[in-house]
Amino acid sequence: MALVLGIESSCDETAVALVTSDRQIVAQRIASQDEAHAPYGGVVPEIAARAHAERLAPMIAAVLDDASVTLADCNAIAATAGPGLIGGVMVGLVSAKALAMASEVPLIAVNHLEGHALSPRLADAALEFPYILLLVSGGHCQILRVEGVGRYRRLATTIDDALGEAFDKTAKILKLGFPGGPAVELLAREGNPRAVPLPRPLVGSGEPHFSFAGLKSAVLRASESGRHSDADIAASFQQAAIDCVLDRLRFALAASEPAPALVVAGGVAANAGVRAALEDLAASHAMRFVAPPPALCTDNAAMIAWAGCERLAMTGFAPDPLDVAARPRWPLDPSADPVRGAGVKA
Ligand code: KG4
Ligand code: ZN
Repeated sequence: MALVLGIESSCDETAVALVTSDRQIVAQRIASQDEAHAPYGGVVPEIAARAHAERLAPMIAAVLDDASVTLADCNAIAATAGPGLIGGVMVGLVSAKALAMASEVPLIAVNHLEGHALSPRLADAALEFPYILLLVSGGHCQILRVEGVGRYRRLATTIDDALGEAFDKTAKILKLGFPGGPAVELLAREGNPRAVPLPRPLVGSGEPHFSFAGLKSAVLRASESGRHSDADIAASFQQAAIDCVLDRLRFALAASEPAPALVVAGGVAANAGVRAALEDLAASHAMRFVAPPPALCTDNAAMIAWAGCERLAMTGFAPDPLDVAARPRWPLDPSADPVRGAGVKA
């Protein structure tokens, strides 16, 4: 059995975890920076990097202490090496390099998106490759065919905003504070999802991708019109977003080779409405549905440690060199075609 230390610092959560290859999260700590960023209505990269630099080392010490182990007991140190806010990524990755060098424990540079993509396998031992994955976070909105560790085929991505970004912008318009996704979900429960007519961008389109920029603009217009309650706008937005996701997934499922499971991961996968809709979709396609518990959906270090466990278990495993670079962009499927549209996300 292997024990892996995971470090996550790509956005606004400083997180450290110890995970075993038999799926035990032995210890973990997460420090959110919500309060530091709240006055700005979004994550400020410089503030995030400084907070990671202050908090990370004591958190690593505390997690090792919680589990009564030392670095020498670890089989690898896995750290997010991108994609993300580069200052924060560098804090985590350089810390991991220093620990790896001092302890002579192998370093594993993990793609944050791979952490999300494999997190359902940490939660569910029965989930095998391949599976169709909806990866929905603050920075990404993709449908992937996960064929193995390191083997991801992108079936769809967003041509403008990510789904989490759309939730966050809706929250900003409705003055719900930051972070926005959970606040929108909470308010949506009190509203009528059919009350506000909102567009469903790219629904029915013959191309596979997502678009949420038009939906966000429509939410702004609906709010400014003064004709709708905030709860109705939140509920109608969430319904429109879910309708888009279902349509795009139906398209992807029809176009790709079949897989036994439909899986969701990333921060937006914490949304109960999204989960319920996907569960129905999976049932209608005779697929198993797998969603990690909400705490494993939003950014955490257990998923990074788990990605390290998965890499460690591969035949021919080789640690990453100490000069491995931090990467602000790092697509899971580098062979995927570029998408049309301005402001394209990797
Ligand atoms: O995966 P994550 O924690 O960080 C990134 O890698 O981006 O995802 C954060 C995103 C944010 O946009 C946040 O608003 C959204 O996930 N989110 C939610 C919920 N919880 C987090 N969106 C909708 N409903 C939620 N319950
Ligand atoms: Zn994430």
